[in-house]
Amino acid sequence: MGAELPERVVRNTDEPISLLDTTDEWIRSRTGIERRRWVRPGESTGDLAVRAGRRALDSAGVADVDLVVVSTTTPDHHSPGTAPWVAAQLGLGTVPAFDIAAACSGFVYAVAAGDAWIRSGLAKRVLVIGAETLSTITDVSDRGTAVVFADGAGAIVLRRGETGEAGAVLSVRLGSDGTQKDLAVIAAGGARWPDAQQGAERGERCLRMQGPQMFAHAVRRMTEVSRGVLEHVSWPVGAVEAFIGHQANQRILDKVAELVGIPPEHCLSNIRSVGNTSSASIPLVMDEAVRDKAVDPGARTLLTAFGGGAVWGAIAMTWPDIRLSI
Ligand code: COA
Repeated sequence: MGAELPERVVRNTDEPISLLDTTDEWIRSRTGIERRRWVRPGESTGDLAVRAGRRALDSAGVADVDLVVVSTTTPDHHSPGTAPWVAAQLGLGTVPAFDIAAACSGFVYAVAAGDAWIRSGLAKRVLVIGAETLSTITDVSDRGTAVVFADGAGAIVLRRGETGEAGAVLSVRLGSDGTQKDLAVIAAGGARWPDAQQGAERGERCLRMQGPQMFAHAVRRMTEVSRGVLEHVSWPVGAVEAFIGHQANQRILDKVAELVGIPPEHCLSNIRSVGNTSSASIPLVMDEAVRDKAVDPGARTLLTAFGGGAVWGAIAMTWPDIRLSI
């Protein structure tokens, strides 16, 4: 396990957030966020991914893996993918490496991919990294997104093992609904609208979100998929000892936990100090929980996420026994 947060701390009371038509009180009470980290100009998603990946490799005590998967909504370039560069920076040679674009569900999708490569025999060890610099695609004059989105990276090494071992990935459930693609979209800059260069059009190169609609879909889908994965592993809801949802909004997390039936003492969250870091959010919470020794190795754990696409997923696993490198 490894994580990386950029140095720059932006509180609700700091510019540019403080310049918006909003208040610290509104942001705290409606999202749970007090501060977040943003990169400085020149620092990229790949840079954060390399640092988190290095820590994960060190913590796992390994120098090589069979696959590198980087989930990100903010790749360093449209093309090529960020993963090959990250792999090279980590000294992993010519290992297979690719990106996954599954927005805020990216980490769950990337773990699913790594899990499938291992189960099929294609790989024995996989480095999975969720890395984002959402500040680079945020319109800082848009209060619906600027108060929420943030930067960071988290990484894990998955390896082949036994079901009874701490850290076993027991079940993965994924889903998507492309009819909802406009709920959270960067409209311009891609093949559908490549030439938005001037004035207001340039703003469409930023992520726009229909917040309340996203909220409703996120609650519905994370609740459904969490129930589905619990049913698949035959865990009664009372068996879940650690629940980590994508850190989109504390009110979403509370609602999903309530609907699924998980008591607050088993819910882990760091949105207050980290904000919504999209596909980095789940591994960032995991890393903090490992540091705090908040969960016992082997504890029954439920992860779930929802993001633009729309895409969602859930994982039932046991809490890993991790020694952090730093
Ligand atoms: N500061 C102050 N007021 C704000 C505001 C802000 N930053 N953003 C919106 N408002 C206002 C609205 O204009 C509206 O005012 P009105 O009642 O006078 O019309 C009111 O607050 C409520 O707006 P609404 O958009 O319904 O707020 P919300 O409670 O839904 O919070 C989000 C907005 C974006 C924080 C919230 O919708 C959210 O977190 N959405 C889900 C995100 C998500 O699921 N992401 C998953 C993938 S990233």
